[in-house]
Amino acid sequence: MAVVRVLFVCLGNICRSPTAQGLMEKVLEEEGLAPMVEVDSAGTHAFHVGEPPDPRAQEAAARRGVDLTGQRARRITAVDFVRFDYILAMDRENLAALEAACPPEHASKLRLLMEFAPDLGFEEVPDPYYGGPAGFDQVLDLLEAAVRGLVEHLRRLHAAA
Ligand code: 4NP
Repeated sequence: MAVVRVLFVCLGNICRSPTAQGLMEKVLEEEGLAPMVEVDSAGTHAFHVGEPPDPRAQEAAARRGVDLTGQRARRITAVDFVRFDYILAMDRENLAALEAACPPEHASKLRLLMEFAPDLGFEEVPDPYYGGPAGFDQVLDLLEAAVRGLVEHLRRLHAAA
């Protein structure tokens, strides 16, 4: 499998997309696929650039053995649209912001992450920032299913490449 590059995108890059990145890194490690897939995350806005993930996201992830402590928020840049093969938005607002900024030749890379868990009935990963702790657990449940679906998709699609 050639190296595939995946970028998870949310609004602030402190709750959903860093959690997706941490989960994906863990699943890839478990499945022996870490050398084949490069993973990163970014936000569409710059509110929290340079900050570690939200403590509530870190705690919820840590309870499931996912380490987010090394991550720092960044905003998506023009180079990301070229560099990454999959640019996966958490919600429709993130996707619209990406579509507005993405050069047309790279637009096919943009998707909603929850497309990779179609049976859950969630098109979007709800923003947990202004809610309570249960929101962060729901985010983890949704992201875990989608990340596992994504890993299976990458395995099937890129196995022969
Ligand atoms: P995220 O959550 O997009 O999942 O990182 C948010 C983080 C910060 C804000 C909103 C959502 N904010 O308004 O600062």
